[in-house]
This record gives sequence, C-alpha cells and structure tokens, in this order.
Amino acid sequence: MTAPDKVSDSTQYARCIQSSKRVHWDIDEDVIRGRRFDGTHKFLPDGLSLTNAFTTLSSDEKRFVSQIQGRTYANIFGLVERFINAKVLDLSRDHALGDQVVLEALVRFSDEELKHQALFRRIDAMVGEALPDGYRFDVDPDEVARVVLGKSTWAVLALTLDIELFTQLHYRQSIDADDELSELFKDVFLYHWKEESQHALLDELELVRHDATLTAEERDRAVDEFIELVAAVDGILRAQAAADVGYFAANCERTVEVDEAQRIEDAFLAAYRWQYIHSGAQHPRFAKVLTGLINESQGQRIQAALATLR
Ligand SMILES: [Fe+2]
Ligand SMILES: [Fe+2]
Repeated sequence: MTAPDKVSDSTQYARCIQSSKRVHWDIDEDVIRGRRFDGTHKFLPDGLSLTNAFTTLSSDEKRFVSQIQGRTYANIFGLVERFINAKVLDLSRDHALGDQVVLEALVRFSDEELKHQALFRRIDAMVGEALPDGYRFDVDPDEVARVVLGKSTWAVLALTLDIELFTQLHYRQSIDADDELSELFKDVFLYHWKEESQHALLDELELVRHDATLTAEERDRAVDEFIELVAAVDGILRAQAAADVGYFAANCERTVEVDEAQRIEDAFLAAYRWQYIHSGAQHPRFAKVLTGLINESQGQRIQAALATLR
C-alpha cells in the first residue's frame, strides 16, 4: 500500500502539510541571500530557453536571450500564480466547515503562492537592474485571472496541474551541469520546485474530487474550456514573444533585419510554448490523471488542440 494512488486522500492531504512545513523557505534568507544578478550568466538553462534554435545569434546574444526569457519567466509565473491562488481560495471554501486537514493544506498552498508572487516580483525587479531599460510585459494578472476564473473549476484545475507539473521539470533542467548558469536563478528553480511538488499533488486531489461531482455533459464542456484556456495562454505567449524580440533587437547592438527578427520571434515562441504548455502537458503524470477522468474522444480533442501549438 505504498503507491501514491493507494494511499487515502486524507493521508495525502496530511502529507502535503508535513512536506509544506518541512521545506518552508524565506525569500531573502534562503533564496536571494543578498545576491544580485550578473550579466555574464545565463538565467534560464538551455533545456528551457532552447537557445540552440536561435541559429543566427552569437553565443553572447544567446546568453542575452536567456536573460530576457528569465525576466519573462518571473512575469509569467507572477501572472499564473494570481489565478491559481484565487482558485485555491475558492476551493478552500468547500472545506471550511469540513475536513480541517484539507483546509490547512489548501491555506498553506495559498500562502505559498502569495510568497511565490512576491519572489517573482523581486526577481523581475532584480533582472531589470542587470539588463538594459525598455523590457515590457503588458499583461495584467488580475484581468487574466478574471477570464480564467470565468471558466469551470475542472478546466482551471487541469490548467493548474499542467503548470505545477512543469515547474518540476524546469527544476530538473536547471540542475544539469552548466557553469554559465546563474547560481541565483538556479536557487529560484530549486526553492520554487520544493513547494510546487505539494501543489501538483493537491491539484490532482482537488481535480479528482471535483470531477466526481460533474455530469458527463459538464465534463465534456469543461474539456472544451480547458482547450480555450490553453489557447488563451498561447495568445499571451505570442504577444510576449513579439515584445521580447523587439527588446532584443533594440539592445543587441547590431541591426536585425525583418527576416531575422521573424526567425528570432519564432524561436522565442517555440521556447515559451515548451516552457509554459508542452513541458507540463507531456508530463506522464498529467496524461495519467487526465486519462483517468476523460474519454478517448475528449483526449483526442485535447491532443489535437495541443498539436496546433507547434
Ligand atoms: Fe508557485
Ligand atoms: Fe504552486
């Protein structure tokens, strides 16, 4: 009875609380520790930034791309954690007058996401000190959260599971040997992952619990809403890829012609789709959880939608 699936839900929520207490960290004392970013380092590892696909760039320019993507990483997480936390607070209401262990697990989850947003605001500002002015991220997290939270809980939890699983893969990419990778950014991946591991488990528990309350028609609609949410994420990524190539071209100290700018923008978009959609959607746990809830034709609809984002 040691496999995760065989352990009772209530034990799993209790284990999440224990892990949350064990790994708890502080932004300044544990993650930042008085350090600053240094322009000689990469901020995102090659396995996430996919800089090898930026074939027209020099190695210095590829490093700059990884730094721009690092700042966008902080902003995208600040954005998604806004709606994730709002949804977790909504879900906690279901347990407020019930199982207090579940309630505590979700309240800790919420507290951690508030801290993560504060961490990513700091990282955004600190990267801003190390890079030239002019970077833009023009998406309002509250506006996005309003749209996302307008969709069904099933759809929001499925998207959240995707996101919280990919933070685990991001950490694994960051620990590959790479002397040029910023030690501070590596610690951002490490400490974020420590708390996200519990979140992914809680997403799964809450998704399965909520799924059991749906009719077949409601679930079928929720699958479409999940696909709409993924498309909305992709819209944000497309806009940011365009903003980031503009910033790159304005600051790379040479002329970037239109054709090359398009190739760089395509490479930014491919990296962002990998980071924020496919690295979670391809996670074996994501497939396993979803397969347990949806039928074959719903699974094919999701796969077909994901295949258009390549
Ligand atoms: Fe987080
Ligand atoms: Fe999280």
